[in-house]
Amino acid sequence: MRDLFRLEGEVAVVTGALGRLGPIWVETLLEAGSAVLACDRPAAPVSEAFQRIQARFGETNLKLIRADVRDRTALEAGCRQCVEALGEPSILVNNAGIDRPPAGGEKEHRLEDIPFEQNLEILEVNTLGLFLVTQVFGRQMVKAGRGAIINIGSLYASVSPDNRFYDHIRGDPPFLKPPAYGASKAAVVNLTKYLATLWAPYGVRVNALSPGGVLGDQDEEFKRKFCHRVPMGRMATASDLRGPLLFLSSAASAYVTGIELIVDGGFTAW
Ligand SMILES: NC(=O)c1ccc[n+]([C@@H]2O[C@H](COP(=O)([O-])OP(=O)(O)OC[C@H]3O[C@@H](n4cnc5c(N)ncnc54)[C@H](O)[C@@H]3O)[C@@H](O)[C@H]2O)c1
Repeated sequence: MRDLFRLEGEVAVVTGALGRLGPIWVETLLEAGSAVLACDRPAAPVSEAFQRIQARFGETNLKLIRADVRDRTALEAGCRQCVEALGEPSILVNNAGIDRPPAGGEKEHRLEDIPFEQNLEILEVNTLGLFLVTQVFGRQMVKAGRGAIINIGSLYASVSPDNRFYDHIRGDPPFLKPPAYGASKAAVVNLTKYLATLWAPYGVRVNALSPGGVLGDQDEEFKRKFCHRVPMGRMATASDLRGPLLFLSSAASAYVTGIELIVDGGFTAW
């Protein structure tokens, strides 16, 4: 059975590798035997979590490159580096994404006043950037006749955010979770289905993995309200995410394509 989950000989690309979830995906793939091309935007600092992974796995199987997901030239250069240093990409984790945390009172907007540019940036990175990365790396997979693409969605691809989670944050106007965030993720799930059907004949599987809220440095009141709303009564942790990623990346899901695997402790079941 273990062979089903082995990734020896695979080459995985992970975007947004230096953020909170990126290192979870990178470490899971390395532990399963894959080489990993970690990719992040030029200005992103190398996080402590990522440095720990570099120290543990060394440089033979782990390369870090810089490319904005909106920059085709940089992505194509990254793809060439991947082929030269590690081999043809066979797994792609489209994880880079932006949200907009509370900025405080006067920096917030009422729904009617949200600037066009704010919506545009979220859609550009989360949806159009993901599509661009898929064009560049997915093309190699189609040529090779094999691959697994995992698009990181969100529970907000399925449901609207509950703004009561944030009503303890004082400010006028009050904080609104950006409407473009859920819209960008819903689009990712739809794109996943489009690509899955188009590339199935070429041996490339495309699935979405949609996490619920992942435990981080959120304030206590937010965590209390959020957990109360989750049937399993808690937020997701790193270990909740590893198995689902490994499943979608490996032969264990050989006949699975075009799905959204929702990992949310039951949030969207209520
Ligand atoms: N953390 C959560 O609770 C949660 C829940 C559901 C879904 N998600 C999704 O998971 C993914 C990772 O989230 P996270 O919590 O690690 O976020 P994060 O902000 O910690 O990390 C995102 C990473 O993406 C990179 N990035 C941003 N813009 C980029 C660009 N233009 N080009 C290249 N890289 C860029 C950032 O530098 C960062 O390293 C996102 O797609 C997010 O929407 C997160």
